[in-house]
Amino acid sequence: MVGSRVAIIGAGSVGATIAYALLLKKITSELVLVDIVEETARGQVLDLSDAGFVTSTRIRQGNFQEAGQCDIVIVTAGAKQKPNETRVELIERNYQILSSVISKMKPLNPNIILLIVANPVDILTYIAQQLSGLPKNQVFGSGTFLDSARLRLELANILKVSETAIHAYVLGEHGDSQFIAWSSAHVGGKPLLDFPEMQTVDKEKLAKDIARKAYEIINLKGSTYFGIAGCVSSLVQAIAFNERTVKPLSIYVEEFQCVLGMPVVLGSSGIERIIDVFLNADEKARLQKSAAELSAICKKYA
Ligand code: LAC
Repeated sequence: MVGSRVAIIGAGSVGATIAYALLLKKITSELVLVDIVEETARGQVLDLSDAGFVTSTRIRQGNFQEAGQCDIVIVTAGAKQKPNETRVELIERNYQILSSVISKMKPLNPNIILLIVANPVDILTYIAQQLSGLPKNQVFGSGTFLDSARLRLELANILKVSETAIHAYVLGEHGDSQFIAWSSAHVGGKPLLDFPEMQTVDKEKLAKDIARKAYEIINLKGSTYFGIAGCVSSLVQAIAFNERTVKPLSIYVEEFQCVLGMPVVLGSSGIERIIDVFLNADEKARLQKSAAELSAICKKYA
């Protein structure tokens, strides 16, 4: 099973919740938890080990060099948004942390997959591609997967169908310039916007609510971690089982010379290809706007 050795960099609430989700899924043989504050990693490993009876996965504390030799490394280390702080405002602090993490992990297993979760995830993914020197298909971010999951949850409630029956994407930045690709969304082969229930939905408000959900959660409980952990554990499963699943992830797009959330095929070798999903004129303009904002920042770190 590819992906049998997984490392998580950052043992805070996001990293530990991802670890717990992976333990429950039993998809990896070994899980290595690494944190710059060794006591934090040790405490999380001791606590997670107490759930050892529910899993076949061995969890242990490790160091950055060991992480660099794993099959998959999930990077969660970084400052998190404060109430009403945008993800982009984290860039300077988290650029420093990411560059330190990557240099400490080197030399990297040449086949390693780097899955970036820390924010701003699109820009940090671009930076990780530059600093790691790995093929771009092996370095990607969680992108707008969580935003799309949030959208599907709302649509499932409106249409009273399972979330898994809804094919709809949030694309672009995992952040304020994201947008919903309404024109390609469908349920059971029927265009989403043809459903009577959608005629009374304020689509702009729904899009804003999705984009602002993280801020709402942060204001209420300080940070988000369950949603992103669910997304990341399903991405590790897709890699480990070569599922060739399609998800909107942070991937480098040559046309825009930046990284942003696009539908991609994910398997054991990483990103296999980008799906050029249909976008109407308005959605193309929104994608270009998101790309322009991201590439302006990426250029500073090229
Ligand atoms: C959120 C974080 C993961 O959207 O950016 O909850």
